[in-house]
Amino acid sequence: MNDLTSAPAELPETPAAAAAQPSRLARWRTRIEYQAASLGLVCALVALSLLLGHQATHEQIAHAELQDRMAVLRQVLPDALYDNSPLAEAETIDDAELGRLQIYPARRNGQLSAIAFQVSPVGYGGPINLFIAIDTQGRILGVRVLSHKETPGLADKIEISRSDWIKDFDGLSLANTARAQWAVKKDGGQFDQFAGATITPRAIVKGVLQALDFHARQAGGASSQEQQP
Ligand SMILES: Cc1cc2nc3c(=O)[nH]c(=O)nc-3n(C[C@H](O)[C@H](O)[C@H](O)COP(=O)(O)O)c2cc1C
Repeated sequence: MNDLTSAPAELPETPAAAAAQPSRLARWRTRIEYQAASLGLVCALVALSLLLGHQATHEQIAHAELQDRMAVLRQVLPDALYDNSPLAEAETIDDAELGRLQIYPARRNGQLSAIAFQVSPVGYGGPINLFIAIDTQGRILGVRVLSHKETPGLADKIEISRSDWIKDFDGLSLANTARAQWAVKKDGGQFDQFAGATITPRAIVKGVLQALDFHARQAGGASSQEQQP
């Protein structure tokens, strides 16, 4: 038989004891499910804020990159050579040597006059992203460094803002420069290296030569296609 006069075992006997008892929420907080749920909520909030941040900035970043590329394109492609929009007419080419490339064709009155594209030889600090324009005769119109991780003060003379070294490629082609000349002077070629920094200019010379070879393969492919019946 139940003893109705005594208090239920879980109830505190005095108000002080009741105050000392942990509340339901406090007890719930010590449980692993509560901690897992709180952590999950914090992670979800962080992920959401990162996503919103990315959505808010990625269009601006893409626009800024396009502006940069247009500025570099204008440096390597003389205005007189095109009346189209090379960046808008980009084509993707899979090359056996250089992999997948984006080609920006320059056309004047519908006739191809040059192509511009990026190559990325590996320097001292990592890939050096170069933008190069080559005309239909296989002559270099210009080369510019888009970005690099070479050592400032030692190897950053590859930037047009630091020196004119990169302009030494202007006008060169496989036809007017023997293959042995495509090296830095220290290696018997015709290009200056920098004091204490040979790796960087060596990489760029190699990248530019690879770009010319790619252009020659493309031109060869195009002409052999034209000869097809
Ligand atoms: C901290 C540090 C940073 C360097 N950064 C570069 C660099 O950015 N580009 C480069 O060509 N050489 C750099 N060098 C020098 C190269 O290690 C190398 O000595 C130089 O390029 C000469 O190469 P070579 O012996 O093949 O002619 C750096 C050396 C040190 C110690």
